[in-house]
Parts: sequence; structure tokens; C-alpha cells
Amino acid sequence: MSSSSKSQDLGSLLSDSALFRTQGYINGQWVSASDGVTFPLTNPATGALIADMPHMPRSQVAEAIDAAKTALPAWAALTAYQRSAYLLKLHSLMEQHAQDLGTILCVENGKPLAEAKGEIAYGASFMQWNAAEGLRTYGQTIPSPFPGTRNMVIKQPIGVCGLITPWNFPNAMITRKMAPALAAGCTVVIKAPAETPLSALAMAVLCERIGVPAGVVNVVVMDKGDREAAAGLELCENIKVSKISFTGSTPVGRLLMKQGSSTLKKLSFELGGNAAFIIFDDADLELAVTGVIASKFRAAGQTCVCANRIFVHSKIYDQFAKLLAEKVGAFKVGDGMTEGVTIGPLVNSRGVEKVERHVKDAVSKGAKVLVGGEKIDNGDGSCFFQPTVLVDVPRECAVAEEETFGPLAPLFKFDDEEDVITRANSSEVGLAGYLFTRDLARSNRVAEKLEVGMVGVNTGVIAQACIPFGGVKQSGFGREGGPSGINEFQVDKLITIGGM
Ligand code: SIN
Repeated sequence: MSSSSKSQDLGSLLSDSALFRTQGYINGQWVSASDGVTFPLTNPATGALIADMPHMPRSQVAEAIDAAKTALPAWAALTAYQRSAYLLKLHSLMEQHAQDLGTILCVENGKPLAEAKGEIAYGASFMQWNAAEGLRTYGQTIPSPFPGTRNMVIKQPIGVCGLITPWNFPNAMITRKMAPALAAGCTVVIKAPAETPLSALAMAVLCERIGVPAGVVNVVVMDKGDREAAAGLELCENIKVSKISFTGSTPVGRLLMKQGSSTLKKLSFELGGNAAFIIFDDADLELAVTGVIASKFRAAGQTCVCANRIFVHSKIYDQFAKLLAEKVGAFKVGDGMTEGVTIGPLVNSRGVEKVERHVKDAVSKGAKVLVGGEKIDNGDGSCFFQPTVLVDVPRECAVAEEETFGPLAPLFKFDDEEDVITRANSSEVGLAGYLFTRDLARSNRVAEKLEVGMVGVNTGVIAQACIPFGGVKQSGFGREGGPSGINEFQVDKLITIGGM
């Protein structure tokens, strides 16, 4: 694939072009890389250059941390109500600018505009949820065995937080971390993903507009490679950072954990998945097809919770495969800004190569392609792969073991409940799992046995701000959102009062 020499005027697509920023945001200032180095940001649907972005060195990450540390006492001293008011304003601005924020997201990430706007609503919901959660960070009083003594536990902000976010949800994975951190009274340094920095910067614009004080929210940007690794190292090794919240791959999670050990960072990690999607023979097949489509093809299959291994009972296998193939064959693949497009590109050519490898590997071992199966080479550096359904997929193949992160639905056959649970649990990761059945006892039994942090029963959609999102095994630890999400950004402090 050759790279396109075109460039794209993103600002002209926006009604508020000031949301399109191409500098980092440190201590309330818009800044280029201190040594002027930039890297090209391209549109994965067209290969066109969107902007030259700052390729910031480690020293600027340290500056951002210093700014966050300086801003911390005043932000922490606000009342929870004052911080909640900021979050509600951000929520309302996100709703107001959903079209522009969605356009920025669509152009840098590739997901279709309607889906991108859906992500903005999802991202905004973390603001709303945490605006309310911040008001309810109750402490405790604990009876003491000592006479004249009272024990009180209060919740305090943990401090400066390093937020390392992925490109697959350029907006919502930032707000999922930033909203509880701010609500708890923490300040943040966001390391924006190299593939999708513009959505992070647009959020910084909104923070600036509503008067979030300088240093409370900082966004650093750099390309992949040495400087990105150096940014991670700075966030992990800098003693002024108290907490790292990371969403990304398991190998990077392992590295950050090692690096963070030198300063005993509190960590929460949402890492890779390999979700099993189990369809029993009593399932409502139309519902199951809708569930697979929602889970597997959201963000062109580039989500950590998406169905990776689809297990279908042998009695309904052929019927289900036919129904799914009809729907997948009707997808419209293309530039997400084009009306009617339902599947966009993958974020980069590495993503395309991985899907291609998984398809070839499965086919070489006996699988058959029902729909799709090929990459789409437009000769312009764009990154498309046909939405694909594979049948007769063998038990042992790459797609059974690795997360594809692309629009590939492999259908495995099963006959027995215990066997399918064993196969589902054979993965070293455990983020999400799904099952479709009309049998209430089975749904509870299987959901309890799946070794994952989240189970969808008769639905392919689990993500909401109000649920504890996170995994087990090598999918990480800590929960984002839900009733416990804000705790990740707080510490319990005991105050024992004697002599009463
Ligand atoms: C992810 O893929 O990392 C997050 C997906 C979600 O929030 O549903």
C-alpha cells in the first residue's frame, strides 16, 4: 500500500473549528514539542494527512506532572459539589458539541460518524455518572475497643494520576478515567494515544472553556516508539504521580507494572480480552445474531470486550451461520464520514495484517470463508478489511488463542455445556464473556463459571458508565465506572480520636 499524498482540512468539517487543536496542553497552555519535532497524523479511511502533531520528549511529561502536582491542593480543596458542577458542565458541552467531537473522532479513528457520536454520548455519560458519584464518597465511623476513642475513615484524593488511554475509544476511555479522577479531587496527566490525539485535545479545549484551573488536566502527545516508552517511564517512575490508570495490551500492562514498582504506584489496568460468545441451542437466534453484530463489529471489531471466539451449538450451527452471514454481507464498508457506511477502516496497517493472518491461519487448518476474508487495498494507505464470517473453525488456531481486534467472526461448533465452558476458560485473559439461552438455570450456572470480569446474558452490549468495568486473570485489575469506580482514585484515611 502506498501512502496518500493528500491532506485533509478537518477544521472545515467542524462548526466550531477551535475544537481541532494540534498542540499538547500543559499547565493551561497549548504547547508544541519543546524541540519542535512533529509526527504525521493520518486518516485511516483515506491515508490523508490530518495534522502534524507534537512529538513530545520525556521532559515535557515531567513538566505536565509538575503542573498537575502544583494544581492538586486547590483542586482537592474544592467541595465535591464544586467539582461535580465542572463535570456537569463538561457533560453538557459534550452533548452540545457531539457532532464536531464525533467528526474529529471519526476522522482520526475511522469509526462511522453515527457510531462516533454514540461514543461521545457514552463518553459524556462518565461525566454525568461521576458528577453524582463524587457527592457520595462516604467515609465510615468504626466503633473502637478503647474507651473514649472514636474511629473515623475519610476518603481523600489519591493525588496526581497518569491516564494512559487507547485509540479504540479516543473519547470515552479518557472520560472513563478523567471523570472519576477529577470528581475525587485528583489532577491528571493524560498520555493521548498517538493514533487519536485530537479527541483528547478537544476534551482539553472543553476543560479550558469551562474554566478548569491550569494544571488540573494536562494532555501530552507523542508518536509511538521511544518517546512513547519514555512517557510511560516518566509517569511510572516520577514520585509525584500516585496512580496509573491504563487501558491497553497485556504486555504493556506488565511493563508498566514493573516500571511502577520503583515508586509503588497504585494501578488499575484494563487489558486485553478474548471474549467467548456462547450460543446455546435454545437461544433466540435473531437476538443472538443482533448480539454478535453489536459485540463483534462495534468499532470494526477493535474493542477489548468484543466477541473473539463465537461458540455455536451444533444443532443450530448452520442456521445461525446463514443468518449472521446475511447480515454481515449487507454491511457497507467505507469512510465513516460517508452517509450509510456501517463499518470503517482499522486504525492502521498492523491491524489489517493481524486479521489477515488470523483468516489465513484458520483457512489453512480447515475453516471456510462464508463472507469477506480479504483486505481491501485502495492503494492510498487506507486500512480496510472486509467484514468476515468463518465457519468450521478448528479448535486450535490463532484466532482461538489471540485477540483479533478486527472484523472477523469465527464460528466454532460445540455440543456440550461443560466442554464449551472449559474452552471458553482456556484463555489466559478474562475480560468479558457472553451467552445466549432461554434457560434461566443455565444462564446463571454458565455466567458464574465463566472466568471473566463481565458477562452479557442475551445481550452483546455490556458497556455503561454505571457498571464495574474490568477483568480478571491477565485482563488486569481494578474497576472503572459503577459504584466502585471512583474508589480507584481515592485513599481511605483513618482518624482516631482519643481522650473523649
Ligand atoms: C475497550 O475496548 O477497551 C472498552 C470497550 C467498552 O467500553 O465497551
